[in-house]
Amino acid sequence: MSRKFRLGILGSGKGSNLAAIAGACEAGQVPAEVAIVLSDVADAGILARAKERGIHARFIAPGKFRTKLDDEAERAYIAALQQAQVDWIALAGFMRILKGDFLRAFAPRVVNIHPALLPSFPGLEAWKQALDYGVKVTGCTVHLVDQGIDTGPIIAQQIVQVLDGDTPAKLHERIQEAEQELYPKVIAALLRGEILVQGRKTLWKR
Ligand code: GRF
Repeated sequence: MSRKFRLGILGSGKGSNLAAIAGACEAGQVPAEVAIVLSDVADAGILARAKERGIHARFIAPGKFRTKLDDEAERAYIAALQQAQVDWIALAGFMRILKGDFLRAFAPRVVNIHPALLPSFPGLEAWKQALDYGVKVTGCTVHLVDQGIDTGPIIAQQIVQVLDGDTPAKLHERIQEAEQELYPKVIAALLRGEILVQGRKTLWKR
């Protein structure tokens, strides 16, 4: 049997992507186990969902900034992930920018899911940005994480139609359904070495 990879998952929200990834690991669709879940929000649903599944989960205070980790917090996140011996890190709604030392420690093995078709609508509440702009299709994007905000090489995208009468909440819900389908599949492919990264281009070896 091939070896199981160890995933670290970082999130600030309710944890639907974590649940999808952990479920796919348990079902044998992703050759990994979720080794640790970290959150910058003490009462985040993602921590509760991890604990329900018996996954080691910790709140680590982000420090004094609003949009990034301060140096001490960044060191604590790196140490926790290294101690858990993670091979790959999946960001699942982690609302802080990761830079410098964090990426030096783990890139290119850090992946993120964004709730829009990048490079359209990077940043916050991307589903709302798409709705306000009036696009007819949006979706989600899985990409490698680099120093920018939602700028890393794109690995996969899934389309979601914008429907007449959509509200931000309805559209976000359908995007999240797409995320839960796409993210585990992409993580499985990455771990199996089925994705080649050449600069900004990524190729699926199928
Ligand atoms: C997802 O929509 C993700 O794309 C965004 O934050 C949300 C996290 O949702 N960056 P959840 O915590 O996985 O339910």
